[in-house]
Amino acid sequence: MLNFCIEGGKKLEGEVHISGSKNASLPIIAATVLNGGISKLYNVPKIHDTEMMYKILEKLGCTVKKSKNKVIIDSSKVHKYEIPENLMREMRSSVILAGAIIGKHHQAVFSYPGGCDIGTRPIDLHLKSFERLGIIISKNYGNISCKCDTIKNTKIDLDFPSVGATENIMLASCLGIGTTVISNAAREPEIVDLQNFLNRMGAKISGAGTNTLIITGVQQLKDVSYNIMPDRIEAGTYLCAGAATGGRIKVLDLETEHITPILNKLEEAGCSLNIGKDFVELVAPKRIKAVNVKTMPYPGFPTDMQSIFVAMLTVAKGTSLVEENVFESRYKFVQELERMGAKITISGRTAIIDGTRRIHGTKVKATDLRGGMAMVIEALVAKKETRIENIHYILRGYENLEQKLTGLGAKIYLKEGE
Ligand code: EPZ
Repeated sequence: MLNFCIEGGKKLEGEVHISGSKNASLPIIAATVLNGGISKLYNVPKIHDTEMMYKILEKLGCTVKKSKNKVIIDSSKVHKYEIPENLMREMRSSVILAGAIIGKHHQAVFSYPGGCDIGTRPIDLHLKSFERLGIIISKNYGNISCKCDTIKNTKIDLDFPSVGATENIMLASCLGIGTTVISNAAREPEIVDLQNFLNRMGAKISGAGTNTLIITGVQQLKDVSYNIMPDRIEAGTYLCAGAATGGRIKVLDLETEHITPILNKLEEAGCSLNIGKDFVELVAPKRIKAVNVKTMPYPGFPTDMQSIFVAMLTVAKGTSLVEENVFESRYKFVQELERMGAKITISGRTAIIDGTRRIHGTKVKATDLRGGMAMVIEALVAKKETRIENIHYILRGYENLEQKLTGLGAKIYLKEGE
């Protein structure tokens, strides 16, 4: 198994280019099933999760041609409609393929996605929405099979603004009969990117970015080329790394309007920011101040930044409160940070963080993608060396992490584990 070894205590300084968004890429890669033709995607991050999606598409009969951050997908010869259980378990977000396969081929078989270390991750909202669209669902031994003659578009009210459920409804209904109206839809920028992609294919969707989406079914969708939006969580991550280490970071190639809640909190913590349309320059104070954060669905503070902010705040001056309101248990990483000297108490949905200067390197184990990234941030501020195991979790969501951090002056290298 591969580990990261990080020698902490260095200020991060320099420029870093932001990659394409993982959470925009995954539903867009799934959506390439819908046109039964050619899709050319650019600025796709080369990470584990996109590679997994390509693997599943090839199992369905697609051909996938990759070159660095460009991928050409031909879905004209799709002849299978089952997402392999092992791949479904490995990557829960592959449930997003179900909506696309059903939308195009009116059938799909998939298994309950594996839970992970941020909660049970149910898909009840997805399944209820599929049933509203006239899809017949039968379940046996963990397998879910879906069938329908046509997709009957209709009104769908989501109990919770679920990102994945909103995306799955968009994918399942854009070739349906009639019009689907989603109320209480998720408003994330990745939903807007998916709408733009589908409309480029010839779909008729409006309202993305608001809590009401309107999808009018069309007969067919055409070949498409599309450039994926930048990754707002990656951008926030590097800015937090700069803030935690007292450094000076310029992040480039992002859409700064996507990260306003993160920038507001970094300013509150004492960082000075020069904000452009597609870049942010951060100069950290000698020691950041404690701040309070509540995660909420977009446009609130993103849950994916929670663990990264907790790690950054472990060295702040004062006590911070971080409240996780999106996932029911997204604090598994905390016990690993405590092994490094962090002073964190969990009370219900809130992490109480007493800032300290005494963070030291040791051996820790990544528990999930963003929790693992929190350990990287902690290691960057720790005295001496930290060894992080299970880094495959982290490499799911961060392209060229080691190279980008090295470029900012971090002492990080990969090491074969025992
Ligand atoms: C997407 O996950 C992202 N993943 C997550 O990012 C992100 O944290 C999350 O949205 C929230 O912004 C991708 O886009 C691939 P949800 P998703 O459905 O769609 C509950 C990362 O680190 N829920 O909005 O799974 C669910 O349990 C990942 O990049 C139901 O109860 O998130 C959770 O508590 C992690 N029933 C809440 O809603 C359902 O049917 C939010 O889930 C679906 C969701």
